[in-house]
Amino acid sequence: MTTVLERPLSALSARANSEAPPALEIRHVSVSFPTRDGLVRAVNDVSFTVGEGRILAILGESGSGKSVLLRTILGIQAPSARVRGAVLVQGTDLLQLPAAERVRLRGSLLSMVFQNPMTALDPVYTVEQQIVESVRRHTKMSVGQARDRALELLRLVQIDSPERRLTAYPFELSGGMRQRVVIAMALACKPRVLLADEPTTALDVTVQARVLDLFRSIRRELGTAIVLVTHDVAVAAEVADDVQVMYAGRVVETGPVRTVIGQPEHPYTRGLLNANVGPGHTARLVAIPGQPPNPAQLPEGCAFAPRCDSALGACRTTVPELVRVGALQYARCIHAKELID
Ligand SMILES: Nc1ncnc2c1ncn2[C@@H]1O[C@H](COP(=O)(O)OP(=O)(O)OP(=O)(O)O)[C@@H](O)[C@H]1O
Ligand SMILES: [Mg+2]
Repeated sequence: MTTVLERPLSALSARANSEAPPALEIRHVSVSFPTRDGLVRAVNDVSFTVGEGRILAILGESGSGKSVLLRTILGIQAPSARVRGAVLVQGTDLLQLPAAERVRLRGSLLSMVFQNPMTALDPVYTVEQQIVESVRRHTKMSVGQARDRALELLRLVQIDSPERRLTAYPFELSGGMRQRVVIAMALACKPRVLLADEPTTALDVTVQARVLDLFRSIRRELGTAIVLVTHDVAVAAEVADDVQVMYAGRVVETGPVRTVIGQPEHPYTRGLLNANVGPGHTARLVAIPGQPPNPAQLPEGCAFAPRCDSALGACRTTVPELVRVGALQYARCIHAKELID
């Protein structure tokens, strides 16, 4: 099991002594920002685990807290951010470490492919210079060793004619190739956890499919645990083992990707699926009516209630618990039928 929330966590900790810790474990993480308009509650009590070599997709509309969550895991949040909870990588809580130690672990233990990767490369340096710099920042390799590593990394991300590409500048590469270089840089020190924020959004569908293939081969060959943020259900269905659906900073549904997409239990997940069909499907797109709430003024009960056809009075007063609705599937909705062991 790779994605677990509040309840399964206790079951997991009972076995913790006899098993190696998961690659990544997030416990009750909340992130808020004090602003002139009030407290922006961007991430609210999020918990999950990702095992070695597994891919978790985080799915949600714009503003649901996906990037804030990933930046918090990496430890590069805005100075005003108030962060609570625990971010454990192979059992070590990164939020408890001194800042210098966290910087040291970034790259070697976990690294990130940022949203809008086209701006992640510096136009005035060659691919080789940028990868070498990224390798040397985190290791004691000589320039010569780092160059060899750069070539090895370009091969790993399946770039054609890697020797030739090393001397290229970013503008000489296609969008798909630039994205591969960005991923190569994130993999420079073979991190145990790779965070990827919308890594395929800017790419056309064919290139997107090849980059998703690359994520699959990375987890197979390096055993990297991957957290992939997307607003595209088709991307999650294509590449992930598990999926976590976020709405207004909360997890509203989670479980194995096939079950969640095949049998969604939360009305928001169902809405997302209707609005966001994969390639090859002919269903008409039906957008979810209304807008997500302002995170500085979250409604009292279920944040989705104002947009939900099935909302009852109770939905407007109490935030529903995340309840088990399938073997490994959980949903945060009072209409979801809780499975009792
Ligand atoms: N430094 C900050 N100060 C105040 N509010 C912030 C800050 N950073 C993010 N937010 C707010 O937190 C909420 C979540 O933002 P986030 O960037 O995580 O959304 P997202 O799910 O990644 O959306 P998208 O799909 O558009 O990338 C948004 O309402 C955003 O305005
Ligand atoms: Mg984002």
